[in-house]
Amino acid sequence: MENNRFISTSKTLTDVEIENSLRPVSMAEYVGQTKVKGNLEIYIKAAKKRKEALDHILLYGPPGLGKTTLSHIIANELGSQIKITSGPVIEHAADLAAILTNLNKNDVLFIDEIHRLNKTVEEILYPAMEDYALDFVVGKGPSAKSMRLKIQPFTLIGATTRAGLLTGPLRDRFGVICRLELYSDKELQEIIIRSAKILGIKIDEDASLEIAKRSRGTPRIANRFLKRVRDFAEVEDKEKIDLEITNKALSSLEIDKSGLDNIDRKLLQTIIEKFDGGPVGLDTLAAICGEDATTVEDVYEPYLLQRGYIARTSRGRIALKEAYQHLGIALSSAKANELEIYENNE
Ligand SMILES: Nc1ncnc2c1ncn2[C@@H]1O[C@H](COP(=O)(O)OP(=O)(O)O)[C@@H](O)[C@H]1O
Ligand SMILES: [Mg+2]
Repeated sequence: MENNRFISTSKTLTDVEIENSLRPVSMAEYVGQTKVKGNLEIYIKAAKKRKEALDHILLYGPPGLGKTTLSHIIANELGSQIKITSGPVIEHAADLAAILTNLNKNDVLFIDEIHRLNKTVEEILYPAMEDYALDFVVGKGPSAKSMRLKIQPFTLIGATTRAGLLTGPLRDRFGVICRLELYSDKELQEIIIRSAKILGIKIDEDASLEIAKRSRGTPRIANRFLKRVRDFAEVEDKEKIDLEITNKALSSLEIDKSGLDNIDRKLLQTIIEKFDGGPVGLDTLAAICGEDATTVEDVYEPYLLQRGYIARTSRGRIALKEAYQHLGIALSSAKANELEIYENNE
């Protein structure tokens, strides 16, 4: 279901082609995430100086924020090869062992959706990450022997939507844990202008800002909107993207001025109208909106939380004033007081 929706942060086929052409290849081109970038640049420099493998890195954050892109950039900047795989693809421990034994010195191994590794596969990673070694048992019964095979030093980069999805032992083996943040409108605008240049389209300043504002802090969505707006401009024979065509294209996609789509609005409306503003549990909310809980948590909530439409409390999600205002629903004075107290205590 998620794939049919425009805001969807999972990838479609055309996305793959476009993403490859728009993907920045150096730290200098990678917009925003200044804290993460600053730290990584230091670690990369130090590792290169010592001619050692960089510490293992865990990148986490909502889909479409640049985890895969950043992993490629790290390998580039290290001057190392990158091998790419993902949690659900590695079925057997032997598959991972084969990948690990084939790594060259100081290579990068990128495991996307690392929280989806199965347990026996994950256990191969522990000695590999800690000691650059594989442990295995030869033979059966009393004559069984455990053997250790050394592998080349390497850097594991794991990507996941939430760090909390990893098991403790795996998370503990990452020396560097980076959380990617939603991008500001200004940063997204920069990304859109850069992408337009690569795609060979002219775009007005106010148009690029408008797309940015509606992209819910996510570069993948920003690039996707840019492409859709470009289609509209082409059909209308415009030689550049202006604000008018941008508004037209985006409203046809039912993305409102704040970047909310139908599901976002339904989430907010459900909390307000069915649960008197909450608190309401994640599973209940997801079921009513016809989405699964993980999608709500990874794709919808981060933006709604960041923009102050909702808050998470120990008893569930609540709608904040912003949500009432956005939907044009009147706040009773009792509710307004309740929210006032809540916000003052935060
Ligand atoms: N910091 C950034 N600067 C410029 N473009 C970015 C940045 N982060 C992501 N992008 C764009 O967004 C797209 C999606 O990023 P990706 O790395 O695939 O996200 P993730 O792996 O976190 O889902 C990329 O193809 C790239 O074009
Ligand atoms: Mg990715």
